Amino acid sequence: MQKIPDQPPTKTLQAAQPQALRAYEDLPGPRGLPFFGNALQLDLPRMHQQLEQWSHEFGPMFKLKVPGRRLLLVSNHETVAAVLRDRPDGFSRPRKLEEIWVELGLPVGLFVANGDVWKRQRRMVMAGFDPTHVKNYYPAMVGVAQRLSARWCRAAAAGQAIDLQPDLMRYTVDTIAGLAFGAGVDTLSSDGDVIQQHLDQIFPALYDRLYKPLPVWRWLPSKSDKHLAHSIKQVNLAVDGFIAQARARLALDAARRAEPPNLLEAMIVAADEPASGMDDQQVAGNVMTMLLAGEDTTANTLAWMLYLMWQNPSTLAKATAEVQRLVGDSTSPTLEQMAQLEYVEACAHETMRLKPVAPILVGQAMRDVMVGDVRVPKGVVVTALMRRDSVSDAHVPNAAAFEPERWLANGDTATSAATTANSAKRISMPFGAGPRICPGRYLALLEMKLAIATVLRDFDITSVDTADGSPAQEVMKFAMAPEGLRMRLRAKAQTKTSEAAIH
Ligand code: HEM
Repeated sequence: MQKIPDQPPTKTLQAAQPQALRAYEDLPGPRGLPFFGNALQLDLPRMHQQLEQWSHEFGPMFKLKVPGRRLLLVSNHETVAAVLRDRPDGFSRPRKLEEIWVELGLPVGLFVANGDVWKRQRRMVMAGFDPTHVKNYYPAMVGVAQRLSARWCRAAAAGQAIDLQPDLMRYTVDTIAGLAFGAGVDTLSSDGDVIQQHLDQIFPALYDRLYKPLPVWRWLPSKSDKHLAHSIKQVNLAVDGFIAQARARLALDAARRAEPPNLLEAMIVAADEPASGMDDQQVAGNVMTMLLAGEDTTANTLAWMLYLMWQNPSTLAKATAEVQRLVGDSTSPTLEQMAQLEYVEACAHETMRLKPVAPILVGQAMRDVMVGDVRVPKGVVVTALMRRDSVSDAHVPNAAAFEPERWLANGDTATSAATTANSAKRISMPFGAGPRICPGRYLALLEMKLAIATVLRDFDITSVDTADGSPAQEVMKFAMAPEGLRMRLRAKAQTKTSEAAIH
């Protein structure tokens, strides 16, 4: 074990309290086995709930051990925020994440990068997310929303239940591919072998390998490991294709180099600068990262949002009324109209408070450090439980209820006043916090508002449920998804998006 210094380590992550300091090793935690530690106790698909349960049992800081790693679990929102802010110097993404990512054959991008590589990539990616850039792309986003409407029109006409989360993944992949790469990817109009089906395997495999006690896939690759290798090959080929197409467009039109119209072209231009430290491999890493980071997260949040709104009919009615009032007559709602959808946006924030699709965020201590009152040795993996406080009545009044009003300045809720807006905002951190906060957050909110506005404008929702009518279960596959949600729709008589408008 690393020696813990006698003096408090250099950095204190919480206001100094006149209290006894604790050593990491003295923290409570569930008993484990020799060698395996707690690894065999972890139920990966439900791990976030298991960790939340343990945090109630063992307190806001407890420890776990898995082979080769010591974990510190933290759930107090102030301590979590302090850890997230102390990046990149105090905490990095876990080394194991990058190791598994590279072993899978994926090029390194912003999400897994650390150190100087992360700093350079972050600057480059943030430039691509600037609002003017998103504004230029917005008409294409509307086109993707129209394709979603057309797909769901067909399902409604055939009386079919919509497999909610997979369909929403098509929507998010098409949106990101267009915005980030200028590529006309259309998974919504086909049911065939599309890039999204390959992408879907990567996050679950990454998650599984991160927590597996032994790297069995190296010794005995299973059938699904072989499928995965094939899928990664396909996705890498698609990404190389995006880059080749973008290079061809840049070569044909010098004006594009001066003002690159999408993230990919901006990245290529930046990489081509002398001494940029960037190359096509890093560009490919970020194409892949955007596809992965922007797909499940937004699709899962949208699926949870539709489910929670359906379960709370008064919120669904208010959101529908807002959409009908503001965009009821628009085939192509404008960005300004999107900005006015305050209630729909509040529904998104409230969904992310109750169902954060990233309920666990992980960082690795780069040096000996204080976390709260605990001395944490370098190398410990600090695992933040993002939801415990934001669903606790101690921090958010009537915390279990779905009350979008709490996010509005003039709240008007049955149980909570406008002051709750502030507490909820401070405590709920669905996009993370600090220097590594999600760069896609504004885009994600826009995408979600556009999808919800399209659904509520064009359809009446007649059900959002599971096949056996039981509550939708949360399942972790790197991002937290609802299991088996289906939605049934009835097209409104005056549905604006006709098949003809799409083709
Ligand atoms: C509802 C949708 C989304 C949610 C809830 C979400 C959530 C998150 C969270 C929790 C993180 C980690 C932040 C941290 O470590 O503090 C993250 C990072 C990231 N997200 Fe998102 N995200 C969403 C959508 C998107 C979209 C649409 C994109 C891009 C197209 C995107 C790109 C990224 C990237 C590149 C990172 C890594 C940033 C870094 O490490 O510097 N995300 N996201």
